[in-house]
Amino acid sequence: MMARYIWILVGLVLSMATCLAQSGDPSAGKDLFSTSNCMGCHGQTAMGGLGPPIAKTKLSFEEFLKTVREGKGMMPATPSADMSDDQVRSLHTELQSKPWIPEEIPIAYKVGQFLTTKNVSKVFLGVFLFAFIFAIRGLAFWFRAAGFASLWPRLVKMGIGKAIGITIKSFIVDGFLVRSLWRNNKSRWFMHGLMLYGFCGLLTADILISILNPTRSQLPLSDPLKLLPLLSGLAVLIGVSFVMVRYRKDNYIDNGLTLGRDFLFVNLLFHTIVSGFLTILLKRLGIHDWVMTVYLYHLASITLLIATSPFTRFQHMWVVPIMAAMTRLTEAVTVSGIDIGFQREPSPGRHHKSERIAKNVMEQLGSEYDGPVCLRYYP
Ligand code: HEC
Repeated sequence: MMARYIWILVGLVLSMATCLAQSGDPSAGKDLFSTSNCMGCHGQTAMGGLGPPIAKTKLSFEEFLKTVREGKGMMPATPSADMSDDQVRSLHTELQSKPWIPEEIPIAYKVGQFLTTKNVSKVFLGVFLFAFIFAIRGLAFWFRAAGFASLWPRLVKMGIGKAIGITIKSFIVDGFLVRSLWRNNKSRWFMHGLMLYGFCGLLTADILISILNPTRSQLPLSDPLKLLPLLSGLAVLIGVSFVMVRYRKDNYIDNGLTLGRDFLFVNLLFHTIVSGFLTILLKRLGIHDWVMTVYLYHLASITLLIATSPFTRFQHMWVVPIMAAMTRLTEAVTVSGIDIGFQREPSPGRHHKSERIAKNVMEQLGSEYDGPVCLRYYP
């Protein structure tokens, strides 16, 4: 297993290197279509792939050029740096003379017709909504478990303004800067940082691209809009590989509760990132027949990653910072002289070690304690 992942990584890095080394234009021969990236979506005979058939195109050159330059729906724009007006003209002529062979219209085109930007956004919106509702449901559970009901009146007494200040500070210091790990274990902090900041980088890149490059035209690798997602993706990839190695080595990792879900998250993330890199790589290497398939796999991985997020280790990303903020609030209330029982419980972040937590709690409670013990697991 491990060896396989290492080989995938080595392969990726090597092919990225060759891809960066090779530059420019692979033969602009007479058969332009079969060497263009158009073929990846419009099929080898231009009778359609995920995009519609464009053999015997009825579009005028002007309309054709406009489609190529501006993109259409899922089709990215192609700037003149990648294909000159003259090349588009030859391509147009070439396509007009290609035979129309209806039997060659693939089934993939049926899928392709469904995959309009509108439908894809609808699916993503639906999945986000689903994840959001269940994430809120999960959070409600943890708020209850962390004793929010008994904390609330004391927070009001302490002052909501102060409580908000403490919460924001905790989100930054405990959440975004992962202070607890910085203090305890620098290498695990680094791994968390790679995943967390890499993830934020990917999200920022996605937002920036939809604003600054809405037609998703191909950019040079040195462009900040390309560099940001590439480096962020690489950070997440290294982070997630580190987690995979740790999952294999850490004896305490199996808490008997969530191992499967933890692995599901880590594997989905791995597939998402690798298929993302592979899409870029295939595009740059000119292996256009595979680009769309791998890209669809990438989209499917993202969809699954989001849809399962409230049930997998992914929820770590919001549950732990929120629980850490709850701990800070509890501390602040306790400092003001009120003892809240659950303050003595293990702090969030001790997930995965439930057996040790149980022993620890029992020791702290002492032998005279005979009330119920409720173990809380922070995802
Ligand atoms: C990522 C996949 C993809 C690539 C790459 C791609 N296309 Fe498209 N193309 C599409 C899709 C999908 C549509 C349908 C868009 C719609 O109608 O919403 C389309 C539509 C078109 C149309 C309009 C067809 C019509 O009858 O309305 C033309 C012309 C076209 N593409 C030409 C090209 C050319 C030339 C290239 C290469 C420079 C290219 N495409 C590359 C996916 C792609």
